[in-house]
Amino acid sequence: MTSKIKIHHESEVMVITVDNPPINAGSIEVRQGLLDAIAELESHAELKAAIIIGAGSTFIAGSDMKEFSQPLAEPHLPKVIAAIENCPKPVVAALHGAALGGGFELTLACDARIALVGSIIGLPEVTLGIIPGAGGTQRLPRLIGIEKSIELICAGARLKVDEALKLGIIDQVVKSDLLANAIALAKSMVGSKKRIRDISTPISTDQSIQAATQKALKAGKNRPQVQAAIDMICNAQALPIDEGLALEREAFQNLRVSTEARALRHQFFAERKLFKALSGNDVKAQPVNQVAVIGAGTMGSGIAIACLSAGYSVLLLDQSEAALASGVKKLQQFYASRLSNGKMSQEKVNEILQHFSHSSDWAAIASADLIIEAVFEDIDVKHEVFQKIEAHANQNALLASNTSYLDIDAIAARTRNPSRVFGLHFFSPAQVMKLLEIVRCKATSPAAIATSLSFAKRLGKMPVISGNTFGFIGNRIYAAYRRQCEFMLEEGAYPEQIDKALEEYGFAMGPFAVADMSGLDIAWGMRKSQSATRNPEHRYVTIPDTLCRLGRFGRKSGAGYYQYLEGTKFGAVDPLVTQLIDRDSVEKGIVRREFTSQEIVHRVLMSMINEAAHVMSEKVASVSSDCDIALVNGYGFPRWRGGPVFIAGEMGQETLDAELKKLAVVSGAGFVQANTTLLFKDHAEG
Ligand code: NAI
Repeated sequence: MTSKIKIHHESEVMVITVDNPPINAGSIEVRQGLLDAIAELESHAELKAAIIIGAGSTFIAGSDMKEFSQPLAEPHLPKVIAAIENCPKPVVAALHGAALGGGFELTLACDARIALVGSIIGLPEVTLGIIPGAGGTQRLPRLIGIEKSIELICAGARLKVDEALKLGIIDQVVKSDLLANAIALAKSMVGSKKRIRDISTPISTDQSIQAATQKALKAGKNRPQVQAAIDMICNAQALPIDEGLALEREAFQNLRVSTEARALRHQFFAERKLFKALSGNDVKAQPVNQVAVIGAGTMGSGIAIACLSAGYSVLLLDQSEAALASGVKKLQQFYASRLSNGKMSQEKVNEILQHFSHSSDWAAIASADLIIEAVFEDIDVKHEVFQKIEAHANQNALLASNTSYLDIDAIAARTRNPSRVFGLHFFSPAQVMKLLEIVRCKATSPAAIATSLSFAKRLGKMPVISGNTFGFIGNRIYAAYRRQCEFMLEEGAYPEQIDKALEEYGFAMGPFAVADMSGLDIAWGMRKSQSATRNPEHRYVTIPDTLCRLGRFGRKSGAGYYQYLEGTKFGAVDPLVTQLIDRDSVEKGIVRREFTSQEIVHRVLMSMINEAAHVMSEKVASVSSDCDIALVNGYGFPRWRGGPVFIAGEMGQETLDAELKKLAVVSGAGFVQANTTLLFKDHAEG
């Protein structure tokens, strides 16, 4: 036995315990140990059955992801599974915590599955760009049919075991004494085998398979692993199991080494790094029970919802009674819709709303542990609000600003205790968007950062720690991307062409559609305020200013880069904008030329990578993969492309630097080619 597998005997039952903390990942040592244990089970006549159980808090909660990036070492999981199936003695899987991916596939090799209530099972492989590769697509359909398997596997769904029991995936759910109950089940099965491979897949009609396929492909954005999973699941009905298993393994191996799977693994490891500052840190997070949100507008009401849904008590405060009423209404409507669409029970909604209060009286914030301001983006208003906060908050409360662009150090400097001031930059809609930038200021205390991280974790957000610079990490990279798109407008491309190229690449929306949606006036206001200090030598595209001068503020004014006709969902190309762009090129003396989609995407990616490299060299971000987390979770960058830093890694530094040199030439004055070294030093998967 390897050190990761422990065995002992309970009379005629062998108890095989997987002990590979923290998640009992199915590593090579675990696989070898299981294989050895099954061989021992077979060779000892006095042993009549076995159970496989996890030590600590979980069953095998997944495979060891690090192994996926290298050639897989023997023994592979299918070999372990075959050994269990071929063993004449019954083997029972005893689940608690999570049985996911390879861990769950292992249970499908067993003759029965018993689980502790509250455990979860699932095959999340598609979310990592692969498919189950150890029989998941062949055995699950034999239990629950083709359509349900397509639904669950293609969504990478996690199921609670009581649902799995109803579906027939789990044989027994127990409230306690998992080990004793599993041993009893194993004893009751002595002398019999109940292999899933011997069950025939329930027959489904082409029509119902087609319907399930269409649904899964749509939800799975037509990604290749989703199609592959469907093809394999269908084999469970069309082919003998061994043929189906061989094809599944081949598809799994091909997908495993694809760029897309590597990109998704990069995201997985990047996410795992996010909370590193929290674990292994001596500095403890302060307890947070009550959160006060100042400003009940777009952001404030969304932040209040995010905090309430995470179980915090929330006070929403606004100086304007009308704004407060509208924020409260938005919040109530949100929970009413959660109730009506069945996403939340009446009890849950009642419980949440019991923890909600609102006021226009500053004295109400006295009991808050964390105060987040989301008032107008104006430094004088922010100063005034922080003064009021300080006057009424308790002295241990932490004070955060949701500002997008203002200097939080300047805000902190006017407070009595700048060590408790920092930024919590949410994204709109705050209850939905996963990204949360935690802005560390000069004086911010380590306890404030630790508290922000644990707060973000409870909110289910992806926290990225940023230095306090203009635009932090995300808006800064996004601004460089938008600027590059504006350059291309001047040089020959049109908004609809750029948007289409980027949407086809995988962005949720193109930059001009996004600009129209969020409103062009905000950025215009910012540009006007910066005009006195802008270097006149730098390249500056005037098209957005011209649109604003014409009152074209985007969707809300009926026109921006596109025109928005009554009753239409999408913007239409406006000949006036086309003319305006053509005229701008003439005025600048630029001869317009054709752009391919490929060139548009390339320039966008290079501009993002360049800015990410600046962000790293200026120490605004300390982990390069945080830039990818920000872009994917806050700006609609396709997750399966990995992010700009991943793409840089794929290119290699020499090629990248040569491309950035070319980008500097086409971008003109004001573009600074970054030193890319730090993008290569700190790789998410390393
Ligand atoms: P908003 O205009 O929708 O809401 C601001 C609210 O603050 C209003 O209800 C107003 O009555 C209230 N307010 C103003 N002065 C106040 C004072 N002295 N005391 C109490 N309440 C006061 O603005 P929005 O969009 O929610 O933005 C708020 C902050 O969040 C800004 O700093 C903005 O830059 C930032 N932000 C905005 C994002 C967005 O997409 N809208 C995204 C991320 C950050």
